[in-house]
Amino acid sequence: MPHLAEPHGTSADPASGRGGAARTTTTTGNSAFTVEFEAIGRTFAPTATRGPTASPPVLRDVSLTVRPGEVLAILGTSGCGKSTLLRIAGGLDSPTTGQVSIDGSPVAGIDPRCAVGFQEPRLLPWRTVTENVALGLPRGTPRAAGRARVAELIELVGLSTFAGHRPQAISGGMAQRASLARALARNPGVLLLDEPFGALDALTRLKMQDLLLDVHAQAPTTVLLVTHDVDEALQLADRIILLGRPDNDTRDGATIVQELTVPGARPRDRGSAELAELRGRLLAGLGIDRHGEARGLAATSTIPAFPY
Ligand SMILES: Nc1ncnc2c1ncn2[C@@H]1O[C@H](COP(=O)(O)OP(=O)(O)O)[C@@H](O)[C@H]1O
Ligand SMILES: [Mg+2]
Repeated sequence: MPHLAEPHGTSADPASGRGGAARTTTTTGNSAFTVEFEAIGRTFAPTATRGPTASPPVLRDVSLTVRPGEVLAILGTSGCGKSTLLRIAGGLDSPTTGQVSIDGSPVAGIDPRCAVGFQEPRLLPWRTVTENVALGLPRGTPRAAGRARVAELIELVGLSTFAGHRPQAISGGMAQRASLARALARNPGVLLLDEPFGALDALTRLKMQDLLLDVHAQAPTTVLLVTHDVDEALQLADRIILLGRPDNDTRDGATIVQELTVPGARPRDRGSAELAELRGRLLAGLGIDRHGEARGLAATSTIPAFPY
């Protein structure tokens, strides 16, 4: 399983955008790209294990434009298609209908303009932190420039002391920081993060959220962040979309059922009344009432709110 969206061997050329789309250039020289989803639908073909009947669609008619440098959070219940949408954005999966464009040119295959980070750090165990981060450098990076860039990123994520360590000698939070540095080494125009902090303890998670904000302030690339954590979305995102099935009709695909712009500059006050109101709306959209209970379950139910 590749640790990152490996661009090598694809025909997509970052310089070949149609040019009309908006983009911004960040202080580190990378561009932040527009990502445009146009009427995305995804249905998986039936498999032997799933039986001969056609599977219902996973996604239906998802249309959305993510602005250059924007942080967009994607929320939704477990299994509703968040990862599928993210994979489609990076060319790791293809939509059945519709199209995704980055910087005005269609995504066709694994896209070198994107870097992907997952819930697990996916580091190579026999390589040091430095060597793992270096794996993210674009192919053809001159040796000296690559070395300098890797050292800079390792410092950015606070791992300078551990640069020579192997993954088993560092904590889970550190491994996830190394993984983030590796994704950034690509200088991605679009950073795709799939529940990147989901496996971390609460405190480490908060620190990683702050780190992501620092990283984004320094190199404001476009970020698509899948999360099941409403507070994380409210803390990090400019805008939040909620994927779901209208009327919970499981025969139909998930689409955007809520979209909201998060007010206020980051870092935001986690205790603000304004955010509390948005939290309530998002939780209701996820089918969770204010007491953290899934709707439709008995009040005495011990089933926790997670996974949403
Ligand atoms: N390669 C695949 N083949 C068949 N079904 C898939 C595949 N990938 C995802 N699915 C199905 O699509 C649905 C959405 O999955 P996913 O996007 O991983 O959800 P989420 O990330 O929101 O939890 C699930 O029902 C899952 O089983
Ligand atoms: Mg997922």
